[in-house]
Amino acid sequence: MLVVEGGHPLKGSVTCSGSKNAFLPIAAASLLTTEPVTVRRVPDLADVRLILNILEGLGCSVDRDRSTSTVGIRAEELPLGEAGWEDVRRMRGSVYVLGPLLARTGSAKVSLPGGCVIGQRPIDIHLRGLQELGAKVEIDHGHVVASVPGGRLRGVHMFLGGSSGSSVGGTGNVMMAACLAEGETIIEGAACEPEIVDLGHFLIAMGAKIEGLGSPRICISGVEELGGCDYEIIPDRIEAGTYMIAGAMTGGAVRVEGCEPGHLSVLLARMHEAGVPLEIGSGFVETQPFDPRDPAQGLRATDVTTLPYPGFPTDLQAQWMALMTQAPGISVITEKIYPDRYMHMPELLRLGANLRRQNAGTAIVQGGEPLSGAPVTASDLRASAALVLAGLIAQDETEIHRVYHIDRGYERIEERLGGLGAVIRRESDPWQG
Ligand code: EPU
Repeated sequence: MLVVEGGHPLKGSVTCSGSKNAFLPIAAASLLTTEPVTVRRVPDLADVRLILNILEGLGCSVDRDRSTSTVGIRAEELPLGEAGWEDVRRMRGSVYVLGPLLARTGSAKVSLPGGCVIGQRPIDIHLRGLQELGAKVEIDHGHVVASVPGGRLRGVHMFLGGSSGSSVGGTGNVMMAACLAEGETIIEGAACEPEIVDLGHFLIAMGAKIEGLGSPRICISGVEELGGCDYEIIPDRIEAGTYMIAGAMTGGAVRVEGCEPGHLSVLLARMHEAGVPLEIGSGFVETQPFDPRDPAQGLRATDVTTLPYPGFPTDLQAQWMALMTQAPGISVITEKIYPDRYMHMPELLRLGANLRRQNAGTAIVQGGEPLSGAPVTASDLRASAALVLAGLIAQDETEIHRVYHIDRGYERIEERLGGLGAVIRRESDPWQG
């Protein structure tokens, strides 16, 4: 568990890690070639270890150098085209191996992910897209069993959007598979997230022919084979945004270095609206010191609605709610990606926040009251981050239990926040076992 002692203003700089959600599909894309690939700026996270274990289980050789944040992957032979329940259960991103395995070997067996704590999270869009490329897909005893009659996928013009808009994972899976398909694939309704653009750039570095990245219409001309490459992934915009919100919550001067402010335009605009003074430059954002509780010049209640990129990211919704508990007045948070992604609410209530659910997907924050520390339980990665942020300003100590979630997406968070002046420590959890 993490124990956070609230009330210490933050000051200093923190350097952003590489993006988890870019690395996961990029690691899976290395299955598309027999040649070695090198990926740089790889974050040291539990989810990274999981995807690398899966790749090793499929027959890849993996060579990781933590001191340089570099990973080498070589998928020379792939004797076992299967990712089982044990892996997929732990991390839904494992499903990214489906498209590349299918395109490279002509068959794949991947356990079907169930729902998870943030919502239902089906993979029907992934499967529909692969079927449109000519794959035969069956669900058998909890597995997706896919094959390619005729041996090679065929390019096609498809609409890939779902009822909640574009799918990040669906776009990634289909884009990877289409790179080795015969002919041209056009994906309409594609995800525009920077992580998908980064995956596309990685594939291009491997020799793929892709146009339209970052737009809802991606065109891929299939090639016979892809080769190795050396690639550095983008900074993690969600990690960066979380540290910016940490600065804003405490009224501290927190400089987030090595980030890409252009990937966070909506967060920066909402922070500006909320009265957070910011300095934005090339590769950095710095929150400027201010008194968040000053009635005239402090935080202002500011509504957000989560939407696919470039809309407000669902992965920063919980952290934004933590911030808004300190903004006097009412702010409305509308979750359009995962309408039930509010497990942090009962825990923030335990700290004294004034919150309520309205209609499906909507939460109301009555902000401006001080929080007081208490034991709370983390339910998922971003909810855990929100509880740590709340702990930074709550009176006395906040104990965050089941904090293993946070290690999935934030590299050494206690060290980094500690480096900014937070008083935070990791302890063994007496509740466990
Ligand atoms: N959806 C479907 N069918 C599908 C796929 C998605 O209905 O086949 C729905 C989802 O239920 C959701 C919406 O479409 O309502 C968007 O889901 P998407 O496929 O875009 O999400 P994802 O690829 O499963 C990635 C990130 C998530 C992030 C979402 C949204 C990775 C590994 N995961 O998930 O990150 O919340 O995009 O931006 O990239 C996190 O890092 O904490 C995290 C949960």
